[in-house]
Formats: sequence, structure tokens, C-alpha cells
Amino acid sequence: MTDPQIWRDVDDWVTGLLVHPDDTLEDALRDNAAAGLPPIDVTPPQGKMLHLLARACGARRILEIGTLGGYSTIWLARALPAGGELVTLELSPRHAEVAAANLARAGVGDRVRIEVGPALETLPRLAGPFDLVFVDADKPSNTDYLTWALALTRPGAMIVVDNVVRRGSVLDTGGTDPSAIGSRRFAEALATEPRCSATIVQTVGAKGHDGFVLAVVNG
Ligand code: SAH
Ligand code: DHB
Ligand code: MG
Repeated sequence: MTDPQIWRDVDDWVTGLLVHPDDTLEDALRDNAAAGLPPIDVTPPQGKMLHLLARACGARRILEIGTLGGYSTIWLARALPAGGELVTLELSPRHAEVAAANLARAGVGDRVRIEVGPALETLPRLAGPFDLVFVDADKPSNTDYLTWALALTRPGAMIVVDNVVRRGSVLDTGGTDPSAIGSRRFAEALATEPRCSATIVQTVGAKGHDGFVLAVVNG
């Protein structure tokens, strides 16, 4: 199914009305494309949402799993107060290199640490607690990332997980797509997890039909 143009048009309208990304954010997307990175950054309205969530929970320490070119990282880092810190985990040295340049140009390089390597290898080396975790990497690992997110957060922390609906393929129980299977398994783990309270919100927009998990860590 091709995505209705109206989803894109409304995203553009919201972006012009409320999000108005500055030149630095636009430059990051341009340089990501020039470097051949896949165009799977969060959309501008989603980036702004992450920024607002970080501010709403008073985040001083943020963990991101899946940096790509640092577009979502810039939105999140801009929500940090003075002395705040963001740690972002990225498998690809090439992606991390592009991200580092984007973050430096955005003036948040001093607040952001990029850890290169498979997240399941870097996570055990991190010290918590974090106030917000944004999970946006390899989808089959989402259940493991939830376990780590819960181990590394404080009560009241927020956990956001991107791309859990995947054009509805999460319901496709007979399918073989590892990302869809991973998303399904992750949702089921979330359903029986007593340490947090969660919902899934479906979205449409410039990146089609998808959705995200929003969870709060229980006290
Ligand atoms: N959060 C970014 C998009 C991330 S795309 C944004 O919205 O701007 C997903 C990223 O996860 C890719 O850069 C990919 O290289 C990275 N990734 C994939 N598997 C990973 C792993 N095992 N550990 C860490 N990062 C991984
Ligand atoms: C994919 C990954 C993402 O993080 C995203 O937001 C959209 C698509 C993907 O791997 O296809
Ligand atoms: Mg994503």
C-alpha cells in the first residue's frame, strides 16, 4: 500500500506551524543523505515530541539506542539542562562519524557521548540511572533493550520505542519478517512486565503507518 499523500502534507503543515526545525537540523538531514545513510530518522514532529517528553520528565540523563546521523539525538540533547548528558549507542562507525559532525555543528557535542559497537555489548558498560531512554535500533533486539532500559532507569523515567507497528505487520503472526516478529515479541514482553506501565500509539505521517511505545517506569 502506498502512503496517502495527505499524511505527508499534514506532517509538513504541522512542521511549518509548530516544529519549524532550524538550519542545523535541516543540515543534518542533508548531510545524512549525502553520506548515503538510510532516510529513517524520526520525522520533525516526532523529533519535537521526543524533545517535549524529555523536558516533561525533567531529563538530565538520556540514553538513545540507535544514533544513525544524530537527528533524533539533536532534538533530545536540546532538551537537556546545563550539566545534562546524553549517551547514544550506534553499531556503525560510519553512522557515528556522520552523527558526530552533525552534533558538533548543532552545538551539543559536549553533552553527547557516542558509543560505537553493538548496543548489547556497550549497554553492560553503562552506569545508570537515566531519566529517558529512546530505543530505535535493530528491532529484533527490542525485548533485550527493554530489559536494559529497565535496569538503567529510575522510577518515573520514560521509555520510548520507535517503529513497533510497522504498517500493521506486527499483527501478521504468520510472517517471517524478523523486525515484525521482534516487535510482536517485544509487545508481549511489555504486556507482562510489572516494572513499567505502557501503551502503543499508532502514527501516520511522512514515514507511513507506524507507531511507538510510551512507557513509564513504576516506583
Ligand atoms: N534514532 C535515529 C534513527 C536510528 S536508525 C534518528 O531518528 O535520527 C537505526 C540505527 O540503529 C542505525 O544507524 C543502525 O546502524 C543502528 N543499529 C542497528 N543495529 C544496532 C545495534 N545492534 N547496536 C547499535 N546500533 C544499531
Ligand atoms: C526502519 C528503522 C527505523 O528506525 C525507522 O524509524 C524506520 C524504518 C527500518 O529499519 O526499516
Ligand atoms: Mg526509528
